[in-house]
Amino acid sequence: MDLYEYQARDVFEKYGVPVLPGIVADTPAEARAAAEKLGGVTVVKAQVKTGGRGKAGGVKVAKTPDDAEAAAEAILGLDIKGHVVKRLMIAAGADIAQEFYFSVLLDRANRSYLSLASYEGGMEIEQLAEERPEALARVEVDPLGGIDLAKATEIAIAAKFPAELVDKVAPVLVKLYEVYAGEDATLVEVNPLVLTGAGDIVALDGKVSLDENAGFRHPEHEGLEDKDAADPLEAKAKAHDLNYVKLDGEVGIIGNGAGLVMSTLDVVAYAGEGHGGVKPANFLDIGGGASAEVMAAGLDVILGDPQVKSVFVNVFGGITSCVAVANGIVKALEILGDAATKPLVVRLDGNQVEEGRAILAAAAHPLVTIATGMDEGADKAAELANA
Ligand SMILES: Nc1ncnc2c1ncn2[C@@H]1O[C@H](COP(=O)(O)OP(=O)(O)OP(=O)(O)O)[C@@H](O)[C@H]1O
Ligand SMILES: [Mg+2]
Repeated sequence: MDLYEYQARDVFEKYGVPVLPGIVADTPAEARAAAEKLGGVTVVKAQVKTGGRGKAGGVKVAKTPDDAEAAAEAILGLDIKGHVVKRLMIAAGADIAQEFYFSVLLDRANRSYLSLASYEGGMEIEQLAEERPEALARVEVDPLGGIDLAKATEIAIAAKFPAELVDKVAPVLVKLYEVYAGEDATLVEVNPLVLTGAGDIVALDGKVSLDENAGFRHPEHEGLEDKDAADPLEAKAKAHDLNYVKLDGEVGIIGNGAGLVMSTLDVVAYAGEGHGGVKPANFLDIGGGASAEVMAAGLDVILGDPQVKSVFVNVFGGITSCVAVANGIVKALEILGDAATKPLVVRLDGNQVEEGRAILAAAAHPLVTIATGMDEGADKAAELANA
């Protein structure tokens, strides 16, 4: 889960990372009030979970509360890379002497942590990495050792901070690592980290991604979730512990096991080419069990998507027998009753396949078509979606 800048700011503050005061505003009037409260120069900042806000006109300096109100008027509703601005942060204005870059992230490829740091900030980091890679230090961080003062000093020196700044910056990097480790983050990025005219180091913009797998250790993280922005179908799936991702097409997909579901998406997309270009409508992995309740919950989510025209259920019985899956489908259709309105193509294979198919055949539900193979099932489902 990615945090908004204002949430990252709050987390930073909790860990003692130096930040400037910031107040959230959802309307121009609130922006004005926030600017009045902060006093002096403020910066009105779009709160969207994407980068490049400044370039898109989403960050504006305001000298007076009037300016802040006008800036809020201009920024609210702005579309930044597909993210519409609904919320702002009014931040105290910093007197910036210099801008730097720092991040620490999970380095999956190397099964380690990686810190990136540069004395040359003020430029987009992707651009810096490409144009002046020597200016961006990449320092591996041992997950067991983390970033203590010695490690932070090593990073600052590698990033070419001059000696007099190394001692100032290093303690801030230690605190940022405490955020990373303490919150079970996969990314903590500060761009820019600045030196102010008064000689202080301040984190002016923060990006934090939290590892949802560690959510059980952080019940408070749930409060950071943006429930309004979440897709309602994804939210419903999440409530049932289903792995669901909404896609753009017309053929609903249910399968067991991520690998099988991924292949099913490919096969359906391929079959769709012969049926008016229909595509998969979602990824949904119901995992092991495939009980009637899980199947009903999965079908309920998929049938709730108005774009779905047909559903392809592709289950391979391994430990789970096809008998349990077939009973699950039959019971799920009973549970859903009139809510089940779209044709279902079911392909079962594996453990007790004959018995499973017999159960489906005996139930003879008018919406269900039995397919014997994956290609055949995908083709039938695509055809029904295009009908
Ligand atoms: N509180 C502030 N006071 C003074 N200047 C600021 C402040 N916040 C941001 N700025 C200036 O605006 C620039 C852009 O701000 P920021 O980094 O928050 O947005 P961005 O980089 O455009 O967005 P993103 O990080 O999402 O790509 C900063 O590099 C900095 O020069
Ligand atoms: Mg930034």
